[in-house]
Order: sequence, then C-alpha cells, then structure tokens
Amino acid sequence: MIIAIDGPAAAGKGTLARRLAVHFDLAYLDTGLIYRAVGKKVLDAGADPEDAEASEAVARALQATDLETQGLRTDETAQAASKVSAVPGVRAALLEFQRDFAAYPPDGKKGAVLDGRDIGTVVCPDADAKLFVSASTEVRAERRLKELQERGLEAIYARVLEDMKERDARDSSRAASPLEPAKDAHQLDTSTLDADQVFAKALEVISSREA
Ligand code: DC
Repeated sequence: MIIAIDGPAAAGKGTLARRLAVHFDLAYLDTGLIYRAVGKKVLDAGADPEDAEASEAVARALQATDLETQGLRTDETAQAASKVSAVPGVRAALLEFQRDFAAYPPDGKKGAVLDGRDIGTVVCPDADAKLFVSASTEVRAERRLKELQERGLEAIYARVLEDMKERDARDSSRAASPLEPAKDAHQLDTSTLDADQVFAKALEVISSREA
C-alpha cells in the first residue's frame, strides 16, 4: 500500500503522514528532508543553491547520514531546499532513492507513506491513495511561526509569511515537477481543521478508495 501526500509548506502533511504510517503500519519518508539535506550541504560548502552544477553534484553524492544533520529544519535551509529542488538534475538524482523506498520499504513494512510536493504526480503516480493537503497562506505561516518558536528559534510573523509566499511561488512555478495536485488526488483544506480532524478525514478518503 502506497499513500502519497503532497502540498505546500506547513499544511499539515508531515503530521498526517506520520499518523497514517503508524495506523497502517507503513514506512514513512519525508521527502522534503532529502531536499533540505542537499540545500544545507550546498550552503555549508559556500556554494549557491541556484548553481545547478554544484547542487546536482551534492545530490548525486548524498548519503543517508546527511539526513541526520543538524539545522535541516530552519527557514534558511528551507529556502535553499526550495532553490536546489528547482534544478532538474537534482530531482533526477533523488528520484530513484524515493521510488526504491516506496517499492522496497524498510523494516519489512508492507508499504509506505511519502510526503512532499510531487509524490502523487511523479514519484508514485500509481499510489493507492493520493491526498493534496493545503491551507491558506496565513494559517500556514501562523503554524510555522508557532513551530519555530516552540523550538526556541527566533521568528517574526511578517518574515515567516514572506518566506512562505516566496517558497510557494518558487515550488509552484518551477518547470521540473512543480507543486500541483495529481489529477486523481483528493484535496483536503486543513485551514479550519485540527490534526485529529485532518487524520479522520484522510482515513475516510483512504477507506472509501479501498472499498
Ligand atoms: O516539505 P519541506 O518544506 O520540508 O520541503 C522543503 C523544500 O523541498 C520545498 O520548498 C520544495 C522541496 N521539495 C520538493 O521539491 N519536492 C518534494 N517532494 C519535497 C520537497
């Protein structure tokens, strides 16, 4: 069983994906983390994330341990991730790892939940269930602000909102696998829902597809 969850930043994808993975006993892959690891490595090397050659070289050499690096969750890394993810060579280099994870989930699991921007459209077009999770930009910026503050990071709403808009625009307008719902994705607006309500709705969608 493969569940594909796509959507913009801070829409609630990760929380939902983790809960679904536990519920159905599936492996979970946060694909954003892979792009973040590439973005961070490019920054750490003093290179420009928009430099296609440098970013692609980092993506090709990425190791599993790079996903455990500190600082992958900062907004600086998120912007770098968004930039490297627009480079077609970076996406191509990371595609096989993601598809392998779905085809051969670790720990003997019988399937996987993947979340990202292009799971339903490109990585797992044949997924059993596809959800496109979104929320208004303002709600997502509020959530992101709270998350950063809870982690003790300094953040102000206006800046978080601006960063979010910039990243949304870049992720949606790029030529290579832009953020867009798959034609057969179920759209879930989480603006007025809490995590329990989102989970309940997702379960409804998935079980109606299984029937
Ligand atoms: O989900 P996230 O915010 O951690 O993702 C960081 C960036 O990585 C996001 O702005 C775009 C990119 N990304 C992508 O292009 N494709 C994916 N499947 C996942 C993330």
